[in-house]
Amino acid sequence: MDFISRTQEILDKHSNNAVIPVLQDVQNEFGYVPEEAVAHISSVTNINKSRLYGILTFYSQFYLKPRGKNIVKVCCGTACHVKGAEKNLTKLKELLKIKEGETTADGEFTLERIACMGACGLAPVVTVNQEVHGNVTSDKIDKIIKK
Ligand code: FES
Repeated sequence: MDFISRTQEILDKHSNNAVIPVLQDVQNEFGYVPEEAVAHISSVTNINKSRLYGILTFYSQFYLKPRGKNIVKVCCGTACHVKGAEKNLTKLKELLKIKEGETTADGEFTLERIACMGACGLAPVVTVNQEVHGNVTSDKIDKIIKK
């Protein structure tokens, strides 16, 4: 995919060059904000690259690396923590052979730790994409990932 020409099309759409909507559209287009896109936005808008990276790292909505087809999130809020979230996270790290925030080499899974997602009654909670799994135990994790 040609990051630069697509990024230019996005910049053209935002005539005022408001940078956050541009970055959001770039991420929607590529699934993350590639380095090439940041460099191009910087050269067109005259906004320093370090300032753009400052924005990208400040907002948790932005990703600087490609993410997997399946996003696995482990809730580590208080209720989930008390009911074994860390154990589930450890099990997922072992099973997927990645750390938090990483993506498997085959691009299938990205593993993330999240704060309370508002389903404390189901603690501990693990989500895979839009699917919410409650009362997750180590045994359930194998089934969830296989599915
Ligand atoms: S703490 Fe996990 S859903 Fe609230």
